[in-house]
Amino acid sequence: MSGRGRFITFEGTEGVGKSTQLQQAAATLRSAGIVVVVTREPGGTPMAEAIRELLLAPRAEAVNETTELLLMFAARAQHLHTLILPALAAGQWVLCDRFTDATFAYQGGGRGVSTDRIEQLETLVQGDMRPDHVILLDAPVEVGMARARKRGELDRFEQEAIAFFERIRAVYLDRASKSPAQYRVINAVQPLDSVTEQVTLLLREIISEAMTD
Ligand SMILES: Nc1ncnc2c1ncn2[C@@H]1O[C@H](COP(=O)(O)OP(=O)(O)O)[C@@H](O)[C@H]1O
Ligand SMILES: [Mg+2]
Repeated sequence: MSGRGRFITFEGTEGVGKSTQLQQAAATLRSAGIVVVVTREPGGTPMAEAIRELLLAPRAEAVNETTELLLMFAARAQHLHTLILPALAAGQWVLCDRFTDATFAYQGGGRGVSTDRIEQLETLVQGDMRPDHVILLDAPVEVGMARARKRGELDRFEQEAIAFFERIRAVYLDRASKSPAQYRVINAVQPLDSVTEQVTLLLREIISEAMTD
């Protein structure tokens, strides 16, 4: 396998198993001899992680939705240009815990920012760069929240009401249904082993596709 790497993102609401599956996926790809970079958004570089802290910290001050949106894309610009694109150019595969789909879901569906405005920033920051594959782990909001609560302190997003996450889930599913070639929706209610098995099968497809490229 040679040439450009593949950019694979993991999406879904809180606690559906993104971080867990991402680690498993990295192991699967590495055992196929692929060099893998594991990263996350917001964050992924020291500066972008500093922006993440600004974004996630619960605070008394109300956060303006445009401030939140711009910080997300500021972190993304840094992450994309200093880490993701150079890795892909070097033939490495990049697995990212959330990416721009999360902005459409959280800032769009959750906060009510228009799709148009998000698309403008997407073009500004990414040009026509998009993930090669999006793995959407889908579960009813309560299922993920119950899992996420076990992690301890809730961040600024996790403290939102159920309705906020219902809107997010709906945007994710809508985006997936509009681009079935790019998205794979996996039922994340299933036991961990079954979810892992489905993600692994999908990765095998992606690897064999890449090998015949
Ligand atoms: N399919 C599953 N069934 C039961 N528990 C799961 C499953 N997937 C993940 N978990 C557990 O749920 C919690 C949240 O998973 P995590 O991967 O951190 O979710 P996310 O990154 O999507 O917020 C963890 O404790 C994890 O071990
Ligand atoms: Mg996570």
